[in-house]
Amino acid sequence: MPTVYLNGQFLPLEQARIPVMDRGFLFGDGVYEVIPVYSRRPFRLHEHLARLQASLDGIRLANPHTPAEWESLILHLVELATVELAAGEDLGIYLQVTRGPGPRDHAFPAQPQATVFILPLQLTPPPRALVDHGVAAITAVDNRWLRCDIKATALLANVLLRQLSVDAGCAETLLLRDGFVSEGSASNVFVVHGGLLLAPPKSNLMLPGITYDVVLELARQEGIAHALRPVGEAELRSAEEIWITSSTKEVLAVVQLDGQPVGGGRPGPLFRRMHAAYQDYKHTVMRGKERP
Ligand code: PDD
Repeated sequence: MPTVYLNGQFLPLEQARIPVMDRGFLFGDGVYEVIPVYSRRPFRLHEHLARLQASLDGIRLANPHTPAEWESLILHLVELATVELAAGEDLGIYLQVTRGPGPRDHAFPAQPQATVFILPLQLTPPPRALVDHGVAAITAVDNRWLRCDIKATALLANVLLRQLSVDAGCAETLLLRDGFVSEGSASNVFVVHGGLLLAPPKSNLMLPGITYDVVLELARQEGIAHALRPVGEAELRSAEEIWITSSTKEVLAVVQLDGQPVGGGRPGPLFRRMHAAYQDYKHTVMRGKERP
């Protein structure tokens, strides 16, 4: 059992308790982050904390901690978790801030006392077989709200959409809104069409993924031609390659969509370049190590 942080205290997970009247429990009234930690270094912490701030602003909740406070809480848990989870080199940090306890009234309490919870997680990179052979995905209508840029704990729509892919024996559900790709149920989506790497530009209709930013930076570095513009359903269905990205999945190729092969039905050449660039970046920059 890892040590977790809850409202000012470090304690064993099984002792962590919140009141049932917490608005996170009653309304899903909260926001969260998942931060990969490579070789004890939280990856792009500044960016994750900036997105947390944007999510908190989006739900009109004051940030209970300064970035320096967040950093010291996270680093302390990383130290403890490295031993307690007997984790390999990597960890994930899940953190959540809710509007805290109050009467069951949709309207905000006058003086909200935010609940802060931080939980270390095992972080295992996707198995080699998924990287080498790719994954299958299905599509579904994106029936979520119009503030998908907020990383809200209210994930019921994402949960239901993700389960559709589980039921179909697939790894992800790619979401289509008004004929355009928004993202996956728990990932961002890239498409290679006509040799060009395409991704939807950031908007209220998708989460601004930290991995999405890394992939775009690497595309720039690698000289991979790319464009940020809306990606239509027809382009998705006739894509040479489709990728999904997230902090936990890194970059994976989708090789089958709704039962049809994507491109040649195998991870494509641009995916292989991007995956290699991502691994190289992870090894040299994220872990701060020299190339082997
Ligand atoms: N989810 N879009 C959605 C809806 C997501 O839930 C996620 C990640 C992403 C990718 O964001 P990032 O690259 O910053 O991880 C995009 C996390 C991992 C989760 O909920 O567990």
